[in-house]
Amino acid sequence: MYELLTGDALFSDTINFYGEMSPTSKIILGCISVFGVAGLVMLLLSLMSFIISGAPFIATSKNLTRKIVALAKIQPGERVYDLGCGDGRFLIEANKIYAAKAVGIDISPLVCGLAKITVWIKRADVVIRCADFDTYDFLDADVIFCYLVPDQMSVLGEKFKGLKKGCRILSRRFEIHGHEPSQQIQIKNFFGYEPVFIYQI
Ligand SMILES: C[S@@+](CC[C@H](N)C(=O)[O-])C[C@H]1O[C@@H](n2cnc3c(N)ncnc32)[C@H](O)[C@@H]1O
Repeated sequence: MYELLTGDALFSDTINFYGEMSPTSKIILGCISVFGVAGLVMLLLSLMSFIISGAPFIATSKNLTRKIVALAKIQPGERVYDLGCGDGRFLIEANKIYAAKAVGIDISPLVCGLAKITVWIKRADVVIRCADFDTYDFLDADVIFCYLVPDQMSVLGEKFKGLKKGCRILSRRFEIHGHEPSQQIQIKNFFGYEPVFIYQI
């Protein structure tokens, strides 16, 4: 009875069960736990971004990031922004491979925290700003990356009219209303193909 009330029975059973597992099973269980916790954290971050901004945090895969950044043809020292930068992966690639001056803007404080940690781990020279890009001045941009939702693209379309000549905007999946893309490239993702719209000011 005492064991039942204190939960000792439950815990001792669990410990015994764990103790009897083979090393391989323990490693598999450990991996499932780590990935499970990581998945839950990402889900929480995505949900928070969605509540704050209407656009969830969904990270572009590393493979697609590499392909999209290569399409921008970044020159050393160019100023590169990611509007809604997530964990900063576009900018880390732009800075480390193409020596860009990279700035990431994200509205979600938790996502910004993740971006700052990622930038620090990767030893990249990337500035992360926790702000709303609707009120942020990025008109000195040479290159802009965005992966947002269609409604946001129409609002940004107006702001992009003030960008300097030569600026390239690369939008994953969604078009910018009121702007004619100079190129539309289909890139291969895990499930098939998806468009990247490239605009040249
Ligand atoms: C689909 S995720 C893209 C993340 C990253 N660019 C990538 O492709 O891996 C969109 C991000 O935009 C951010 N966001 C949405 N609206 C924003 C706004 N008005 N200002 C700044 N960030 C915003 C969200 O918090 C989210 O992290």
